[in-house]
Amino acid sequence: MTPTESLTEPVADEAAKIDDLAARAAQLAAAIRYHQYRYYILDDPEISDAAFDALFNELVALEAKHPELRTPDSPTQRVGGYIAERFEKTQHPAPMLSLANAFGPGELAAWRDRLHRLLSEEERTRLAYVVEPKFDGLTVVLHYENGMFTLGATRGDGIFGETITANLRTVRRLPLQIPADRSSGMTAPSRLVVRGEAYVDKVDFERFNQRQAEAGERTFANPRNFAAGSLRQLDSSITAARPLKLWVYQALIVEGGPALASHWDALAYLRALGLPVCPAIRRFGDDEFDQLVAYIEEFGARRHELPYEVDGIVIKVDSLAMQQELGFTGKDPRWALAYKYAGEEAVTTLLDIVVNVGRTGAVTPNAVLEPVSIGGVIVKSATLHNEDYIRDLDIRIGDKVVVKRAGEVIPKVLRPLPELRTGEERIWSMPATCPACGAALVRPAGEAATYCVNNACPEQLVRAVEYFVGRNAMDIAGFGIKQAELFVEQGFIHNLADIYRLPWEKIGELKGFKSGKSRSSENQKRLENLRASIEKSKDQPVHRLLTALGIRYVGEVVAELVMQHYDSLFDLMDATTEELSAIDGIGPRIAQSIHDWFAVPENRELISQLAEAGVRMTVERAPSPANALTLTGMTFVVTGTLPTLTREQAETFIKQHGGKVTGSVSKNTTYLVVGENAGSKLQKALQLGVPIIDEEQLKRLAEGGPPAS
Ligand code: IVH
Repeated sequence: MTPTESLTEPVADEAAKIDDLAARAAQLAAAIRYHQYRYYILDDPEISDAAFDALFNELVALEAKHPELRTPDSPTQRVGGYIAERFEKTQHPAPMLSLANAFGPGELAAWRDRLHRLLSEEERTRLAYVVEPKFDGLTVVLHYENGMFTLGATRGDGIFGETITANLRTVRRLPLQIPADRSSGMTAPSRLVVRGEAYVDKVDFERFNQRQAEAGERTFANPRNFAAGSLRQLDSSITAARPLKLWVYQALIVEGGPALASHWDALAYLRALGLPVCPAIRRFGDDEFDQLVAYIEEFGARRHELPYEVDGIVIKVDSLAMQQELGFTGKDPRWALAYKYAGEEAVTTLLDIVVNVGRTGAVTPNAVLEPVSIGGVIVKSATLHNEDYIRDLDIRIGDKVVVKRAGEVIPKVLRPLPELRTGEERIWSMPATCPACGAALVRPAGEAATYCVNNACPEQLVRAVEYFVGRNAMDIAGFGIKQAELFVEQGFIHNLADIYRLPWEKIGELKGFKSGKSRSSENQKRLENLRASIEKSKDQPVHRLLTALGIRYVGEVVAELVMQHYDSLFDLMDATTEELSAIDGIGPRIAQSIHDWFAVPENRELISQLAEAGVRMTVERAPSPANALTLTGMTFVVTGTLPTLTREQAETFIKQHGGKVTGSVSKNTTYLVVGENAGSKLQKALQLGVPIIDEEQLKRLAEGGPPAS
């Protein structure tokens, strides 16, 4: 039931009804404005896109039924978005429209029928469509004058955008000059304005958030907010450090270039100029509409395989003349449509709440759900984070709850729907004792998590083993939670070093490994494979071992960073917190956590046992070229766009030659390596008198020569 339905039930007094509806419309408008503010200005939404759409669509429906409720300042009457005060404004050459949505093949067919009605018979014979992914990032408008990138803006309110030229210049995919390939023989158009989407790859987004969380810094709710938050920075060096990417998907203005008749040709032209045009674009004739629908469905089923977030497909009429003729309704063009894929959220019943013990002893509540299909996958359980999450949201056993599943991430319960309660629901509370070992549970003051503090808790050990052997840690193939449970239960594993001291004879006798009469060779092989992969893992790089230990705040990224500064785990073992926090990227919290872990005698003993078992403890540095290590003892900061090396390549180059790279300029910086469009770091270096060199000078320095020419 939507609130509109409840409000449109027969009411005796017609005037009272309109009053109610007007109040509802005002309430919706206020809520929409608030959430737009959170989304567009703060880049920090409180509710999901789906929940926002529900509010917006309700208001659209209400106004459609009762046009007298539609006020000029209603959120439905804006092209969308907001502009912030802190950026210069740019007026767009044409309104930046948005797209009407379609859900399901029925609405797609209805759109096509409408096109057929609006176009002439002759045009219908030439009708074709271009199908593109709908990228989930931040819309940007890019201006090129005589081949130079001169201006970039956000979409803003559709009429005015925020000028973010300096920030956009840091996006590596964005050519600062077109044609990007000067040997292409093409000439630059005198004026070109294109529309595109700045976005972030899913892995980069996750990595960034992980790193931020480890350092106790702000994280972003989703890739779109990451893109927006990164591009709407007053300091472009912050943007430069963010892994932003770009696709362009519309030529808004082309002057002094070829005459373009179709969107397809326009995209080919943009691509030839060196602008990033997504390759996942298809063209279908109107008589191939069935294939188009099949393509959309197949694309939808596989969209999670793409490196970036896609929330639908955009279908556009190919002919630019037909686009012109079809025009707009309100804020949406008639010639394009956003086909949205089935939501990633579903409503189901919360059957029970059970608690699981993790490797750190943290006890987390998990939802047992009435199985429900979300985006084609059956979901039966979901995370509920911690005790406070459940209490703050007032989630009760028996509630109907909204569950979200997106891509690879663990499904989560977003909120209950209290309006659907029957009175049978039960309030849950955290158990007093550990479900695995029976020890009393403890919740430290100021923490959200509850812990089982029994070091001998078998469930903690199982989880610690599972993590140790996992893909991001020692990566032992054929070793998973099942084997961890079995070996702990059998008493073969008491600490992590026991993984390397397994009693293989006895294991050969266990069910699943036993080489009895049937399937004997298969079991034998499984056993040998497991043994071999455990053996092989002894030679994993030390940062993987450090990750595998499961020290709080020390994930892959931190572990790799830390091991760049130590030659072995034994060296790290005796590092002071001061020494650790002097590493760029390691905050006091991480330093303390590492230090405290190595201060525990059992942990030190574990390291010796692992070493005794033959696990690698020393760092293997990449073999360096003959004239290597010429940059030893020097600290570099790289800024701006270098002529030939990317930022990462430059950093690797420096490290391979023994130098150190940090993210910010200080009096300890030996050299600042600058490229084009260097920003605040250059200022800082000038202020502090830090020597400034370019890429060529860096290379000369690495060859052992003086930096100056
Ligand atoms: S075309 C007038 N194509 O989706 C039509 N938009 O909900 C202009 N978007 O704000 C838009 N991918 O920024 C178009 N391949 C694509 C797109 C795309 C993402 C964004 C666009 C717009 C939003 C509309």
